[in-house]
This record gives sequence, C-alpha cells and structure tokens, in this order.
Amino acid sequence: MLKLRVASKTQLTDQIVGLKLESADGAALPGFGGGAHLNLHLGKGLSRQYSLCNPSESPAAYELAVLIESESRGGSKAVAALAVDDVIESDEPQNHFGLKTASNHRLFAAGIGITPMLAMARELEGRGSKFDLLYRAKSSDKAAFYSDLINSDFVQFSFSSEGTLDLADKVAAPGADEQLYVCGPQRFIDAVLEVAKEAGWRSDQLNREYFNAAVPELEDGDKPFTVKLKSSGEEYQIPVDQTISQVLEDAGVFVPLSCESGVCGTCLVDVISGEPDHRDLYMSDEEHAANRQITVCCSRSKTPLLEIDL
Ligand code: FES
Repeated sequence: MLKLRVASKTQLTDQIVGLKLESADGAALPGFGGGAHLNLHLGKGLSRQYSLCNPSESPAAYELAVLIESESRGGSKAVAALAVDDVIESDEPQNHFGLKTASNHRLFAAGIGITPMLAMARELEGRGSKFDLLYRAKSSDKAAFYSDLINSDFVQFSFSSEGTLDLADKVAAPGADEQLYVCGPQRFIDAVLEVAKEAGWRSDQLNREYFNAAVPELEDGDKPFTVKLKSSGEEYQIPVDQTISQVLEDAGVFVPLSCESGVCGTCLVDVISGEPDHRDLYMSDEEHAANRQITVCCSRSKTPLLEIDL
C-alpha cells in the first residue's frame, strides 16, 4: 500500500479539482503508462479509482483530476474534503486501458474523461507516435486542462455551448491497424462506439473506459437465484432486490468493491459453473460471451445456481 501526501490541490474548473500526490514516506513511486489509474482509499471502507494524468516510469508525484459531483456516492465528496498535507493510502497504479500497438491512435474524450486521454496523449507525444485527440466539453471554462492544451496541434476542441457534434465526420473509417480510445460519460462513449462500428471499426480496435455510469437497475423478469462459493461450499439466496455482493457482504464474506456500478472490474470473480447474466460495462462483448468471469456488484445469473470462485 502506498502512503501519499496531498502536495497541492488546484481548482481546474468550477467542478474539477486537480490533485498532486507525493510519496509521504520518501519511498519511490511506481511508474505507470497512459490510461492507468490509482485506487485511493478514502477512509470508512471507501475506495475510488481515478485516472492518472502524468505518465512516467519514475514519477515524482501522481497527478489526478477529479470531478466533484453533488450527487456523488461518497468518493468525490471525500476528495473535496482533502487538504494539502493530508496523507491517504492508495494501491499501486493499475492499467486496464493502456495503449496498444497501432499505426495511428484516435482519442475521444468528453468531460472528466479527458484525464486518461491526456495521459495517453502525453505518452504518445513523448514517443513521437501518430495520434489525435477530440475533446468535447460544455465550454472552454468547463474544460479541464484547456490552457495546457489550447496550443497543442494534436487536439481539437468541441463545445456543446457552440452546437452539436457530428461524430460521423470525426470518427471516419479506420485504417487496418489503427486503434480508437474513448472515455467520458456513458452516452458519449455509446455514441462514439456506435458511429465507429457503423464506420467499419472492428471490436478489437475499440477501447473504452466509462465514467459516471449509472448503477445498473433491476430488469423485468429478474428472478432470485442461488450463489455457491467454491471455497466453503456455502450457498446464498440472491433476491431480486439485492446484488450478489450485497448478500455476501451482509453474510460477512469479503468482496473487493470500488465503483459498485459495473465499471471498474474490482469485483470480478471467476465463474465455476452456471451462466452469468452480465450487467457490467467493464468486460467486452467477447468476454461476456465467454462467461468465464462475473462482476458481482451488479451482474446476476441466468441459471438457478451460479458457483463462483470465492
Ligand atoms: S466494483 Fe467496480 S465493477 Fe464491480
């Protein structure tokens, strides 16, 4: 576990706070690439993942940008309450959204989704790779890092205050070994992916990371089912109005959780038998079809019994 001291806290926009976190005990900070995130432990069992903005093999500090939401389920309020010199714990950087090998990288960011995209852009710029970035925001004063990026020749801004965005025009048809990355609110990601698929992008060329995902809701036809744990053989009834993780936590079974909305992958466990009913946004269509893992914070079961590797 890393111990990090808040070295600075800056208001990047009226809703976005920039944090610079240095080692609190002098230990060297592990390096990371574009697309990586930190899982911050914010007290009272609350942990939240935030994308890192400053990729480096030997960082002097970690830089994050956090959207402070009034409807937050806790994470952004805890970040808003942090003060300079506070010390918090964090896991080492992890990256499920890293850059792939490609002849050209197309980056699409909206809102706070700029954070991993900025890190990717910095890494690609450092490598001398071919890439471009479309950054959609409400307006220039709502766009974090606007003043850092305005003179960059790789970025194209698009402001909703100035009109709608013609994604078909921006996405265009792919080259054979190009990669597309998108991050932001779910509606933006879904729109970019839909346009990209229509334009001929293959699923292995499309990379996405969700922010602001809604907690998956009950669906018509949801039924209770039984979850069996491989380690103990214990069985638990999952009613229609509770998730697997809620039932297990109530029973005292530890389940690693972070977003609790099917976005981060923290709660992934292997499926031993049975067929999951996937509700997450974390795994790809291919991973869902393979049914090897399940996100227990939101997904359910299509079969009456689901055995999982817990
Ligand atoms: S806790 Fe994030 S996907 Fe389940």
